[in-house]
Amino acid sequence: MRSTLFSSNESRDVLPNATLTGNTSMISIQNLSQAFANQYVLKGIDLTVTKGTVLALLGPSGCGKSTLLKLLAGLLQPTDGAIYFADRLVANAHHLTPPEQRNLGMVFQDYALWPHMTVFQNVAFPLRMRGVARHAVQERVDVALERVGLIDFAKRKPADLSGGQQQRVALARAIIAEPEILLFDEPLSNLDIALRQSLCEEMAQLLRTLEITAIYVTHDPKEATTLAHQIAHMQNGTIESLTTL
Ligand SMILES: Nc1ncnc2c1ncn2[C@@H]1O[C@H](COP(=O)(O)OP(=O)(O)OP(=O)(O)O)[C@@H](O)[C@H]1O
Ligand SMILES: [Mg+2]
Repeated sequence: MRSTLFSSNESRDVLPNATLTGNTSMISIQNLSQAFANQYVLKGIDLTVTKGTVLALLGPSGCGKSTLLKLLAGLLQPTDGAIYFADRLVANAHHLTPPEQRNLGMVFQDYALWPHMTVFQNVAFPLRMRGVARHAVQERVDVALERVGLIDFAKRKPADLSGGQQQRVALARAIIAEPEILLFDEPLSNLDIALRQSLCEEMAQLLRTLEITAIYVTHDPKEATTLAHQIAHMQNGTIESLTTL
């Protein structure tokens, strides 16, 4: 294990200047480690993602991809190391900014839609939580549903949609509040191969249009090359190499 950047009783909340390259770093992960019951599943991860970059985390089952994503989302607190969004500390062993204060959108493998809400209500949910006025919600949800090609499905419930359509709803919900960062955990892995390919290409286009910073977890090298600007190859809790496409 490498030494920590900061001693255990010192918590900095601003990224040291030396690591700010041109001030464009959106995500900075420094010597990040995660242990469960003294077993390290992430070991000293260092990674910087610049603004507007889509980075794919590619690696075999169990190598720690979802754990790293959960740390970025704020669903886990790191055992060691630190995470900064822009120059703001969001997590170390002594500090944890909760997920709702991180300005991020998330899309998971199982979609995680509310079954009792319509498509419109699901997508509107993050805006309602923020107290956005009703007419503005209507306008913004329409734009998001238009973007993902679901404007005619607004009144349906998730159970009455195909897997691919449900995943588009999850994507619309993730982008509706205009987050700075999008996190994806194998969002297409429950879909059949043809649909996976076409949705992957659509998603790649959308990410480029939005010019958003994103981390995209996948097992599939083809998906990674279609979507990402950079690929981090993970193995056994470490990043083995970083490829820029
Ligand atoms: N809460 C937990 N408690 C104990 N061990 C855990 C916990 N969460 C994850 N692990 C372990 O950490 C390791 C990494 O898990 P993780 O889910 O990050 O892998 P992954 O790369 O996402 O795999 P997959 O591709 O199968 O989704 C695994 O060995 C897993 O069993
Ligand atoms: Mg996983």
